[in-house]
Amino acid sequence: MNSPVKKYVIANWKMHGRNDFVQDWCQGMAAVRGSVQVLVAPPTVYLQRTLDLAPDLIQLAAQDVAVYAKDGAHTGEVSAQMLVDIGCQYVIIGHSERRALGETNEILLQKLMCSLEAGLIPIFCVGESLEVRESKQAWSFVQAQLSLLDGYPKEKPLIVAYEPIWAIGTGMTATIEDIEHMHDLIQQMIDRPILYGGSVKPSNAKEILNAKAVGGALVGGASLKPEEFLAIVEAAS
Ligand code: PGA
Repeated sequence: MNSPVKKYVIANWKMHGRNDFVQDWCQGMAAVRGSVQVLVAPPTVYLQRTLDLAPDLIQLAAQDVAVYAKDGAHTGEVSAQMLVDIGCQYVIIGHSERRALGETNEILLQKLMCSLEAGLIPIFCVGESLEVRESKQAWSFVQAQLSLLDGYPKEKPLIVAYEPIWAIGTGMTATIEDIEHMHDLIQQMIDRPILYGGSVKPSNAKEILNAKAVGGALVGGASLKPEEFLAIVEAAS
């Protein structure tokens, strides 16, 4: 009998944390068990320390990656190869907070290609604004974002995260019907694990994680409190 597919639960710390926080958070994760694929995305400066301190069952994701494949005069940039070199296996690409900083499709494609070449697994984020949702354009918007993955090799691992912008950090979550509807449409287009993100917390995690075509959760705010994050991991088990 095939073992069931593991759900992903990813902690995205965004621009939070200090050395003490990293230590406490990693200690707090001692209870993580192997039935869920747990990832943590710390700020770049804390990647190595998190890797050193986190339990073996937790894997590392970067929050960003350079558009340049080769080393060179790119002040401030961190390449996909460097991330792989320190033991990072995943990278978040296309998060709405980075798109808002001006990351275009062209930039995102370069990041996808650099990651692919270096062997990093992208967690590619898509999601519509409230305005787009209210104008009933959510699916065509998300579909257009997903078309960037058209040329992505089928045999290479890739994760998609659906994160409606209006639900990120706002406490508002999409309804289960909305989540299932969007995930179903995404799944018809692309056969990959599809995570949901946007105000996932212990109180709504079980329902979201059990929804149809939801392969896991990308968690921002609630990932900063180890006990809350663990409760979400537990809900995915
Ligand atoms: P949130 O963030 O859980 O704080 O809404 C999710 C995300 O942006 O990945």
